[in-house]
Amino acid sequence: MQVGILGGTGPAGKALAARLASSGVDVVIGSRSRERGEQMCQELRDRWPDRDLALLGRENAEAAQADIVVVATPWDAAATTAASVGEHLADKVVISMANALTRLGKEFVPLVPGRGSIAAGVQAAVPAARVAGAFHHLPAHSLGDLDHALESDVLICADHPDAAETTAQLVAKVPGLRPVQAGSLAAAAPIESFTAVLLQVNVRYKTRAAIRLTGLDV
Ligand SMILES: NC(=O)c1ccc[n+]([C@@H]2O[C@H](COP(=O)([O-])OP(=O)(O)OC[C@H]3O[C@@H](n4cnc5c(N)ncnc54)[C@H](OP(=O)(O)O)[C@@H]3O)[C@@H](O)[C@H]2O)c1
Repeated sequence: MQVGILGGTGPAGKALAARLASSGVDVVIGSRSRERGEQMCQELRDRWPDRDLALLGRENAEAAQADIVVVATPWDAAATTAASVGEHLADKVVISMANALTRLGKEFVPLVPGRGSIAAGVQAAVPAARVAGAFHHLPAHSLGDLDHALESDVLICADHPDAAETTAQLVAKVPGLRPVQAGSLAAAAPIESFTAVLLQVNVRYKTRAAIRLTGLDV
């Protein structure tokens, strides 16, 4: 299975790329510039020389030809970036991990995107794709530190049950991550906006907390 990451050169995309690759997944790091994509692959290989990371750096349009595509751009570029490579996304599972947030003074606050969530906006931009929301709550720093053992739930939402299932199978490949089915894309709005709360907690306690639900035996 190959996963392409649009905007994979940022902290979130490169962290996800490294973690998936270290879990045996082939990853294409997408960028608006192939050179930046290749540089990021080299950076990750240099950081983790003892791990055999299956990484390629390409333009977003090539990354979009992977079996599963993750959108890891800033929130306000997620829908347009997906649309720009839309010809490659028909019938594919596309995972949106973007959170629409801003800072008001010292506080992180969620924004309400046009369609209620970024994931819904991506689905509208590429209607032939099957969009799932996932990976919103994983802090890039710990996700990308391959020596750090993860212990976190990943809330997944999608209107298409097979998109949710495929995403769950991908999440389950990563040791320490537990996929949790959290409903349709209607759940994307609270999932995305909750990230503002997590960031607030992380600032308050000077940590990088992720989420783990209790009472869930799956
Ligand atoms: N950082 C985290 O801990 C974290 C955790 C979970 C989820 N997220 C979400 O993941 C997404 C990415 O976060 P990030 O911190 O990695 O973001 P970022 O560094 O701001 O952007 C990621 C990449 O997107 C590309 N990009 C930037 N502006 C663009 C534009 N206008 N159009 C198209 N591509 C553009 C850039 O790659 P090129 O210049 O190479 O094209 C950039 O390296 C965000 O939506 C965020 O909410 C972040």
